Amino acid sequence: MNTEDVIRTFVEYFEERGHRRTTGSTLLPPPGDPVLFTTSGMHPLTPYLEGRPHPLGNRLVNVQRCLRTTDLEEVGDLTHLTVFEMLGTWSLGDYEGPRSLSWGYELLTEGFGIDPGLLHATVFGGDDQVGLDTASLEVWQERGVPVELTVEDNWWDNGPTGPCGPDSEFFLWTGEGPPRSTPTRDDRWVEVWNHVMMRHRKLPDGSLVPLPQRNVDTGLGLERLASLLQGRTSVFECDVFTPWRRLVPPLWPLDEATLRLVCDHLRSAMVVIGDGVRPANTGRGYVLRRLVRRLLTALWRDDPSRTVGDLPDELFLHTRDHFRQETGLDEVRRVLCEEERRFLGLLERGRQVLARPRFRGPLDEEDFHYLHDTHGLPRELVVNLRQQ
Ligand code: ALA
Repeated sequence: MNTEDVIRTFVEYFEERGHRRTTGSTLLPPPGDPVLFTTSGMHPLTPYLEGRPHPLGNRLVNVQRCLRTTDLEEVGDLTHLTVFEMLGTWSLGDYEGPRSLSWGYELLTEGFGIDPGLLHATVFGGDDQVGLDTASLEVWQERGVPVELTVEDNWWDNGPTGPCGPDSEFFLWTGEGPPRSTPTRDDRWVEVWNHVMMRHRKLPDGSLVPLPQRNVDTGLGLERLASLLQGRTSVFECDVFTPWRRLVPPLWPLDEATLRLVCDHLRSAMVVIGDGVRPANTGRGYVLRRLVRRLLTALWRDDPSRTVGDLPDELFLHTRDHFRQETGLDEVRRVLCEEERRFLGLLERGRQVLARPRFRGPLDEEDFHYLHDTHGLPRELVVNLRQQ
């Protein structure tokens, strides 16, 4: 099953159960959203989770591209991508969590053919504001799926304020042999689907108030599920990476971890640029700049003459089509190459400045400020240059 088959199976399953498909939006969340980028399928739906009637009704399904940079240091491992697609479903004040979990179980085991013996669930165990999620617990107990209760790991919120609630997650065993242990104790349990009982709104002081309606918000990482269904433990081996794995190694021979990081960040940079962001020193533009600098730093580690200008058009096209974007390839390439030139210039200036006697010893805060304010050298870059 390739990723397109996974999308089709998922969407059709929920359409047959009264859900209408909404078009996913760009990576830029609506004004007033507390995060820079869409990090989850629910972001564009925030007003509807808060009670505004949705024009397509109260059961929705969609595919939404998302960008998560909080896990940046983990990119290169087997399961983390910065840009990915989330398959999502919503009950806007319609059915409740148990029905969502039951459908989820049925789709995974019957629709996608996953062995029920490889599933584990987690459920919100309760804290001083919200009690144990007994309704979800009962669903799992009836099906004989093992459950682990947690508190923080089973609470989902949309940034510092906004809609939130307890969640119940599906994990899939990816280890050799029969499943062992539990999701929080063994990372061979991989999270595939999160069902959030989104009934609360978090206020700036951290307190919770009930939302006008009881929603369910679910999110399933497409590339993660597709890899598992394709018998791969690494997201970088699912079909969306096939052209990357064919075209990048002959161009740049990289070790596996570096290859993953470079491909991941290049894809993200292309998609972020495609959604209209341009490199800058603040906000979204800075996230883009960091992604590009991180990938170039990795790329140049054993050969500084490598350039993103050598990337074949096919990779730009494949990424644009996969994410259903329309921005011209030349524009995306131009922005990437210009940012590469800017970074090269900055590195050159940085090396010259840091060679001065004043900067040979340990640097203090005043030095970092001076290097930043007078020479435009960010702390991260200074630290990297001094390690070379
Ligand atoms: N909004 C939930 C998540 O992103 C489903 O995990």
